[in-house]
Amino acid sequence: MDRFEFYAPTKVYFGKKQETKVGEILEKSCYKKVLVHYGGNSAKKSGLLDIVCNSLKEHNVDYVTLGGVVSNPVLSKVREGISICKEENIDFILAVGGGSVLDSAKAIGYGVMNEGDVWDYYLGKKEPKACLPVGVVLTIAATGSEMSNSSVITNEEGGYKRALNHELGICKFAILNPELTYTLPNYQTESGCTDILMHTMERYFNKVKTLELNDQFAESLMRVVIMNAKILKDHPNDYDARAEVMWAASLSHNDITGSRTYGDWACHQLEHELGGMFQVAHGAGLAAIWASWARYVYQEKPERFARYARNVWDIREADDIKAALAGIDATEKFFKEIDMPINLHELLNRDITDKEIKELSYKCSFEENRTIGKFKVLTIEDMEKIYMMAK
Ligand code: NZQ
Ligand code: ZN
Repeated sequence: MDRFEFYAPTKVYFGKKQETKVGEILEKSCYKKVLVHYGGNSAKKSGLLDIVCNSLKEHNVDYVTLGGVVSNPVLSKVREGISICKEENIDFILAVGGGSVLDSAKAIGYGVMNEGDVWDYYLGKKEPKACLPVGVVLTIAATGSEMSNSSVITNEEGGYKRALNHELGICKFAILNPELTYTLPNYQTESGCTDILMHTMERYFNKVKTLELNDQFAESLMRVVIMNAKILKDHPNDYDARAEVMWAASLSHNDITGSRTYGDWACHQLEHELGGMFQVAHGAGLAAIWASWARYVYQEKPERFARYARNVWDIREADDIKAALAGIDATEKFFKEIDMPINLHELLNRDITDKEIKELSYKCSFEENRTIGKFKVLTIEDMEKIYMMAK
C-alpha cells in the first residue's frame, strides 16, 4: 500500500445536546430551504424531531418534512423525496435517524441534481455529477454512513439492493450525540455494533502490504467495539459505552482504518442480497454470514486470520492455521453472546430453501456478470457454497 487517498471532509459535532445546534449550523451555511427527512416513529416518539424543528424555527431556517423511511430504504420513497425537493426548491437535506434515513437522503440528493432515473446511478450505468448537500442528526451507531461515501438503496421491484459509492455523497456535517441512541432496541444496538466491526474487518482482511499503523488502529477499534457491545447488552444507558461505539462507527467507515479500495467487501455484498430479499437488519445479516465466509477463505492467507486471532482475541496459539480457526470460533461465540444470529436459520427464524440460495447468488453475481471479494475472488458458485455453509 505505497499509495492511497484519504478524504474525510465531514464536520463532526460530538456529545450531549449537540442536536440543539442544528438550526444555528444551517443558518450560518445560508441554505434557503431544508428537507427534514426521517424514518418510522422513533424520532417523533423520542421528541428529537421536535427538538430539531424547533431549532430550525428559532434560526429562521425554512423547512419541509418527509418521514416514512423504512429500514433497508426503498426507491419509491427516494422518488417521493426527489419530487418534493424539486417542487419546494430544497437546497439542503437533513437526515434525522439512522443509516437508512441518511442513505435515502443521499439518494434524494443525487436524484435532484442528476438527469434521468436515479436508479441508473445505483446500477452503475451513469456516474453522478453532483449531489445536494446532506447533513445528519444520527440516532444509531452502525453504518458509518455519516462519514462514508456510500448510500445503499433497495428497489422494491425485484428486491435488488445496490450501493452508490461516491465522494459527492459524503455528509457536510454529522451531529453525534450518544444519548440519542439510548432508546434503541437491544437487537438494533448489537446489530449496529456488528456492522461497525465488519467495516473494519472488511478492510483488515486484505492481501496487500498494509501500514502497521492502520493494522494496529483497526485492531484497537475492534477490541473497543467488542468490549462495549458486551457492556451495552446489559447496560443500554451507559453513556461511555454508547460514546465509544458511536465514534467507532464513524471511524470504522471513513477509511481511517484502511482504504475501502483494497478491502474485501464480499460479506457486505452477500448480506445486501439478504437485506434486499428479506429486509433483515444489516448487521445481523453480516453476523449470520461472516463465519461461513471466513472458514471458506482463510486459507488464502492464514497468517492474516492468525494475527486477527492473536491481536483481537488474545489467542495464544503458535500454529497459524489453528490460531486462524480459533479466531473465527471466538468471533462466532461473541456474536452469540450479543444475541446476533450466526446462521441464516437464526437470522430468518426459518430454514432457507435451496431455491432462495440460488436466487441470492444469482442476484449477488449481478446475474452472473461479476465476481465479489478480493481476499479470495468469489464466483457465483463460491457465493452459493458460502450461503449453503451459512444455512
Ligand atoms: O424508522 P425508525 O422508527 O427510526 O426506527 C429505526 C429502524 O427501525 C430504529 N431506530 C433508529 N434509531 C433509533 C431507533 N429506534 C429507537 N431509538 C433510536 N434512537 O432502528 C431501526 C434500524 O434503523 P436503520 O436506519 O435501518 O439502521 P442502520 O443505521 O443500521 O441502517 C441500515 C441501512 O444502512 C445500509 C444498510 O444496508 C441498511 O440499508 N448501510 C449503509 C452504509 C453506508 N451508507 O455507508 C454502509 C453499511 O454497510 C450498510 O450497507
Ligand atoms: Zn455495513
